[in-house]
Amino acid sequence: MKVLVVGNGGREHAIAWKISQSPRADRVFVAPGNAGTAKDVENIEIAADNITELVAFAKQNEIGLTVVGPEIPLCNGIVDAFEDAGLKVFGPSRAAAQLEGSKVFCKNVLRAADVPTADFQEFHSAEPAERFINERYSETPDDCPVVIKADGLAAGKGAIVCSTREEALEAIDIIARQKQFGDAGNKMIIEDRLQGIEASILAITDGQTILTLPPAEDHKRAHDGDTGPNTGGMGAYCPTPSIDDKTLRWVESNVLVQTVHVMKRKRNPFRGILYAGMMMTPQGPKVLEYNVRFGDPECQPLLMRLKTDFLDLLEATVDRRLSEIGPLQWDERPSVCVVMASDGYPGKYEKGKIIRGLEEAAAIEDVKVFHAGTRLDDEQNVVTNGGRVLGVTALGDSVATAKLQAYKAIKCIRWDGAWCRKDISDKAITLSR
Ligand code: AMP
Ligand code: GLY
Repeated sequence: MKVLVVGNGGREHAIAWKISQSPRADRVFVAPGNAGTAKDVENIEIAADNITELVAFAKQNEIGLTVVGPEIPLCNGIVDAFEDAGLKVFGPSRAAAQLEGSKVFCKNVLRAADVPTADFQEFHSAEPAERFINERYSETPDDCPVVIKADGLAAGKGAIVCSTREEALEAIDIIARQKQFGDAGNKMIIEDRLQGIEASILAITDGQTILTLPPAEDHKRAHDGDTGPNTGGMGAYCPTPSIDDKTLRWVESNVLVQTVHVMKRKRNPFRGILYAGMMMTPQGPKVLEYNVRFGDPECQPLLMRLKTDFLDLLEATVDRRLSEIGPLQWDERPSVCVVMASDGYPGKYEKGKIIRGLEEAAAIEDVKVFHAGTRLDDEQNVVTNGGRVLGVTALGDSVATAKLQAYKAIKCIRWDGAWCRKDISDKAITLSR
């Protein structure tokens, strides 16, 4: 079968690499891909949001299955367009993708499904939101633990975590007056700020059967010790000991199953990857948000461990016969993915720096270097082309060994301005003590 993967990040490299291991995958294309996917599979020059051209390519080339990585094409209806053209495609419909595309929609589904989440209020303009904050925190301006979120997609930057009333008012201004996230800020929610440990719990579902994947932990802040600005994710590992089996089963029955049922009852069935961003609070697990796709970088350590044929799994989901797949098979060994980034990320950074040492890194046992922001220049050098550049991923007998292997590979890789966090997965080690 010929397969098309849509996207150009580390997640899509991992998806394409894993699919290409299936004996049933004859050719794997990535649109538009990066230097890593150019090497492992085949790139085609169509942007991930160019739905019309992607449909045309899939038709002309008899693509048997298309797998969509990022949220923007999903929220723009890529799955509906492929299905209308009679093409098989993995991912939720536009209507179901609203779970990620609209925070208000997501919160209403969580409410209807009776899933624990932070209390929230919805606002459609700045004034009532400011009034709410001013009244509720009139006595305690220095203690205002809220999170203010733009309703729509904002490249992971639309949630502003606040501690004081001043910060909350500034966040409202950014979202609803300055419109820094554009139309995504036409609505917003203000919710209680929760305390606890975060975990990413992903499941694959055909709308009927739900298979939960091992829990992972992302590292969203730029610097060691979870300090610095928020990023798309500086590294992840799997499984995380912050979620034991009992908690995972609880989340499966009380969060994932309930949500999938409500979506079905709303005649809006969810198929694809349902990713619950969870906070483990002293009152129990609560959902912070849903994503409707694999997490990036969580996808990289997850797929590094998957032993079940990934193409079979994706196709069974699309064909609504996931119940036939049975329990997923995983490598027992944990995995750690460390993101190498460009100098300046998540702010401004330069592109086009030549990356060296990739072959030496690839030669290290149990290591896979997934590419994110890379491309091939005219001389076929691999050069940087984004903020998050590589996701160096390793397996090990323990989290500590996997971490060591990943950092050993990182030592081989260099470019002008390369950096990474040094503490990815350390929480696993502290938690298991
Ligand atoms: P979201 O875009 O909803 O995933 O939020 C991005 C990040 O903001 C999350 O990963 C959390 O670190 C933080 N966050 C979101 N909602 C809350 C909340 N209610 N309490 C505390 N932190 C939150
Ligand atoms: N790693 C966070 C995300 O993919 O949204």
